Amino acid sequence: MSDKPTMTTSAGAAVPDNQNSITAGPRGPVLMQDYQLVEKLAHQNRERIPERVVHAKGWGAFGTLKITGDITSYTRAKALRPGAETPLILRFSTVAGELGAADAERDVRGFAIKFYTEEGNWDLVGNNTPVFFVRDPLKFPDFIHTQKRHPKTNLRSATAMWDFWSLSPESLHQVTILMSDRGLPVAPMFMNGYGSHTYSFWNDNGERFWVKFHFKTQQGHKFYTNAEAEKVIGQTRESYQEELFGAIERGDYPKWTVQVQIMPEADAEKTSYNPFDLTKVWPHGDYPPIEIGVLELNRNPENYFSEIEQVAFSPSNIVPGIGHSPDKMLQARVFSYADAHRYRLGTHYETLPVNAPRCPVHHYHRDGQMNFYGGIKTGNPDAYYEPNSFDGPVEDKSVQEPPLKVSGDVDRYNHRDGNDDFGQPRALFNLFDEGQKKRLFANIAAAMDGVPAEIIERQCKLFDQVHAEYGAGVRAAIATGKQQKPASVSAAE
Ligand code: NDP
Ligand code: HEM
Repeated sequence: MSDKPTMTTSAGAAVPDNQNSITAGPRGPVLMQDYQLVEKLAHQNRERIPERVVHAKGWGAFGTLKITGDITSYTRAKALRPGAETPLILRFSTVAGELGAADAERDVRGFAIKFYTEEGNWDLVGNNTPVFFVRDPLKFPDFIHTQKRHPKTNLRSATAMWDFWSLSPESLHQVTILMSDRGLPVAPMFMNGYGSHTYSFWNDNGERFWVKFHFKTQQGHKFYTNAEAEKVIGQTRESYQEELFGAIERGDYPKWTVQVQIMPEADAEKTSYNPFDLTKVWPHGDYPPIEIGVLELNRNPENYFSEIEQVAFSPSNIVPGIGHSPDKMLQARVFSYADAHRYRLGTHYETLPVNAPRCPVHHYHRDGQMNFYGGIKTGNPDAYYEPNSFDGPVEDKSVQEPPLKVSGDVDRYNHRDGNDDFGQPRALFNLFDEGQKKRLFANIAAAMDGVPAEIIERQCKLFDQVHAEYGAGVRAAIATGKQQKPASVSAAE
């Protein structure tokens, strides 16, 4: 007898032979009664699940959030109390590429965190940029279509991207970040993360504050130029997975300093910009970042599929003391993610180990495909509806968010009315040194290769409105690129 475990079918019966199918005679044909063969083939056919409709390519790890600052006057969230240590999983991603895309591609990076708090899962599903391309969720599917493949050519289309951006001036801020050095980080640990949206805090007194979350890399910012990235991709398409997995295996744990910007609730009426507009930051001068702790990644997943592919983040997951905000984009995301998870993973995706809360869960949802948690989660078989007289779980009014005052007539409001789309991109442009500006112009020129002249000019006019030097720089880089063709126009230093 071998001391190795016996191989079995998925029904538990011992397998006598895993090399030879059951056949009529040594040359076949095979018999349908070879259920083991059927089971193997059938399982293989079901190994893939739909990839995420966006952010398909990703890398992730487990870690901890340690709170060192004291923001108890703003939030009652237990995970944000001084001294709290909360386990978490963080998945980084690119937005546009498919599951097999190369890692070192210019794109916004996802920075999605699930905090397993004692009060339930809190998901902060952010990016490595503090802003986004659009501010109205009605535009999100169209925007994503421009990032994905053309329906006829099945190729990515620079024309579609710049057509959309040039017709959507609110994208200028994010486009400038994407085309700058920070649009192509060397690996996940060399970039910041941002909650991006405005969220809210509320405290034990029922007072609300608006909040933005920032995760500042302690490894420093490191980026690739286009030319460097091309070389990297020529050598390995998996550079991020290698860097992140390798660093954690070596015990070289990446860390981020966690900061929040806090705005008193009433200030939202006073700022010159809409603080719920996802294309805007809150200037640090107005709302200084407050350091509250450290996020560390220190454990690689044991199984990529079950822990990284199956992890399901959703901005709808908040805990007492943390709330949403009127941000239209955030409101749409509160719906969209859990809907995506039910499709991508199944009805009971929250019972998968990586998604399961680390605190007791009691609800009255019933049945459904792949329900393996044993009926309803109420602890009493007679308490399968609510209200009931059988000691089933009951609501807890103490975790009710304070009421939010809203006003205005119901209408479709033009989200571009009265919005300055140029001031904040200008503030960013003014932060760039000469080398950064030169690379920005060259990266844009390279990304515009093959785009019709009228679209390029429409976009350059938007750059002119950010800064005369911006539009002129891009036009000059395009002209230089044309002279140098067919050589690369990335012109990285
Ligand atoms: P500040 O000078 O106070 O803040 C500048 C911020 O910009 C810092 O957080 C810094 O991040 C970041 N930054 C510096 N260089 C670059 C770069 N090359 N690419 C991208 N980000 C960079 O000014 P304001 O708060 O008034 O913001 C000015 C502009 O800075 C904004 O319009 C926005 O584009 C950008 N920004 C602002 C943020 C905010 O929350 N206020 C956050 C990130 C960017 P770091 O500390 O990591 O170097
Ligand atoms: C992934 C929708 C805007 C960050 C996704 C997914 C959907 C989606 C459906 C796939 C989810 C899954 O299958 O698990 C939307 C919609 C948006 C929006 C409808 C706007 C209306 C944003 C913004 C950010 C963002 C503004 C960042 C600030 C992410 C990240 C992921 C993701 C990081 C990957 C999460 C992971 O690692 O699993 N989005 N998104 N999205 N989105 Fe969005």
